[in-house]
Formats: sequence, structure tokens, C-alpha cells
Amino acid sequence: MADSFSPLELRDTTIRNRFAMSPMCQYSCEDRDGLATDWHRVHLGSRAVGGAGVVMTEATAVEERGRISPEDLGIWSDEHGEALAPVAEFISDQGATPAIQLAHAGRKAGTARIWGDDSGPVPLDEGGWDPVAPSADPYPYEDDERDTRKLSTADIEDVVEAFRDAARRANEAGFEVAEIHAAHGYLIHQFLSPVSNHRDDEYGGSFENRTRLAREVTSAVREEWPDDKPVFVRISATDWIDDRDSWTVEESVQLADDLHALGADLIDVSTAGIHPDQDIQSGGPNYQLQFAERINADTERDVAVGTVGGIQSAEQADAIVRNDRADLAIVGREFLRDPYFPLHAARELGREDAADVPPQYRRGFQ
Ligand code: FNR
Repeated sequence: MADSFSPLELRDTTIRNRFAMSPMCQYSCEDRDGLATDWHRVHLGSRAVGGAGVVMTEATAVEERGRISPEDLGIWSDEHGEALAPVAEFISDQGATPAIQLAHAGRKAGTARIWGDDSGPVPLDEGGWDPVAPSADPYPYEDDERDTRKLSTADIEDVVEAFRDAARRANEAGFEVAEIHAAHGYLIHQFLSPVSNHRDDEYGGSFENRTRLAREVTSAVREEWPDDKPVFVRISATDWIDDRDSWTVEESVQLADDLHALGADLIDVSTAGIHPDQDIQSGGPNYQLQFAERINADTERDVAVGTVGGIQSAEQADAIVRNDRADLAIVGREFLRDPYFPLHAARELGREDAADVPPQYRRGFQ
């Protein structure tokens, strides 16, 4: 029986345990240039030292206009890839699997970092920009002076190519996992959901059309990503919106199968983010696990599944894997509180034998 310290094999990659650090924006690029800094190296490196199986970068923008905030990481040029290479190398040197989340924020791009005095869209005269989206339908921010521009089919091709180029750079930088961000109301999710997609061409309307961008991006990334390395896709399994057409769990199951057929190895199952009218049921421990379980149970193909949301204790993560509810326990805020969460979990679970304590720290863990 697998437990939280069992390795996970995906293609030729062996992830040393089932604790993955969830992608989390750090709003820490200097000069708003998208280049990795000492902050990213230390922040991500610490979680690798702390025993994580997977250490994933924050949403890393494939186009400059696709950043969630102006201070986000980017990978829209070779220089960006080169700045990330030491991050990936250090994570690998610690025995963790370096992962990068490739992202485009679409109509939710260009918002202020969370700890400043301002919130919502950055004004145009302060470095903000007009976002792009499936439809000329802005995210309903208060006081948004910007124009949300509908992408033409030629623009969509450019977005797919931007994901492809980003994957090539990420591979050259030494990452072992590429995760496509198709969740949380960002660009790919905006195409998936009828809440934000009002197109009447081949990218709108039917399930097949709304999922076309997700499939094209997955195929493009898979073409660049070496056959022996895994690709993850993060999805929002539900919009949590009932009073109008929205993205559903049933559609998520079908999409998981479709993306697996195109070479996605693991579906990272989150929820929400498409519209402020969402009505999220609970935010407590394991609050999104039911959706990962559903995808685990109902997909026809044997795709691996990760769960994220409210995982805060060693026992919780361990029980998720032991009871075969998901293959990977993806942890966000607990990793902000405790960079050494997996090492502490090993002690708590009586699995000191499985903890990969760096030699520099062993005296502290004896
Ligand atoms: C996030 N989250 C997030 N998700 C994502 O897919 N890409 C990202 O860049 C970010 N950025 C981010 C920043 C910060 C500060 C937080 C707290 C969260 C969501 C995160 O990955 C995770 O899905 C949620 O936090 C739920 O998991 P936890 O925190 O309950 O373990």
C-alpha cells in the first residue's frame, strides 16, 4: 500500500514522496521584469531542503501581458529561462523534482500585488495594461478603466506558440515537470467556462470548442516536453456557480480523459476563480478532495490525480495517499508556514527512515 513517503513514478521521473509544494505567487520580481531573483531561489530552495517531493514555481507567465501581477515570474524570453536555471538546479540537487507552472492570466492579468495599499487592476499610468480574453467581457473588478480585448483566432495561435516556447525554455532550464495552469479563472479556464466564453467560433459554444485551447496548449507543451518527463495540468473542477451555465465536474472528468490522451500525466485538481459570484462550499480541511476523487474514480484512462486545498497536517496527507483518494498531496499555505513540512511529517508519522534530511541538517533531526 502506498503512503505519503512512497515514491511516485511518472514516465521516467521518480518523485521521492507525495508532498508537492503548490504554485504560489510571490510578487517578488524586481523592476517588474519577470526575472527570478534571490527571493525565488531561497524560497523554492528552502522547500526542497525541507523534503518536498515536488517544488513548483509560482504561475510563470508565458507572455508579458499574461502576468497576474506586474511582479510575477515570466518565461517569455530565453533570458527568463536562464534566470530560472539555477533555481531548478538547486531543487534537483536536493533530491526534489523541480516543476514550473506555465500560465497566462487572460482577463485577470495586471492586478496589484496583495500586500500593497491598492487592490484590483493596476492603473494604465502606473504600469497596468489592457488584458486579453476569449470575449470582450471584463472580469468584474471595481474601478477598471482598462479595455478587455477579445483574442482573434490568429492571437490564439500566438498564445499556443507562447506556451510551446515557454515549455522549451523550461526544459532547457532543467525543470522536470511542466504544469499547465488551466484553473482559477485564468486564460485557459476562461475559454473552458461558459461564464466567460461567449465566442461563436470554433473556440466557443460546445464542450469540444471550449476545451480546444486547453487541448492545443497541452499538445504543444507535450511536443516540446521530453517523452521521459511528466506534464501536469491544473484545473478548476467546478466554478461553484449554479445560477447560470458554468463549468461542471462532469466536464472536468471528460477533459481529464482528453488531456491524458494528449500526454498529460497528472491532473492537479483545484476549483473556482472564474467569477466573484462563486459560492464555494467550505474551505476547510481537504475541501477540494471530493473533486480529485471524482476524477480518480470516473476517468476512463488511468491518469494520476493530485489534490490541493486545506492540507495542513502529516496525517491528512498520509491518509489521502493510503486510502487511494489521490496520488499527490499538493500543499500551499502550510508550506508558507513550515518550509520543512515533509521532514516534520516524517517524524510525526514515525517515518524518519524515509525522510531525506540534508546532511547539513542531520544533527538537528537525530
Ligand atoms: C496561491 N495559489 C496559486 N495557485 C496557482 O495555481 N498558481 C499560483 O501562482 C498561485 N498563487 C498563490 C499565491 C498565494 C500566496 C496563495 C496562498 C495561493 C493557490 C494555491 O496554489 C493553492 O491552490 C491554494 O492556496 C489552496 O491550497 P492550501 O493553501 O489550502 O494548501
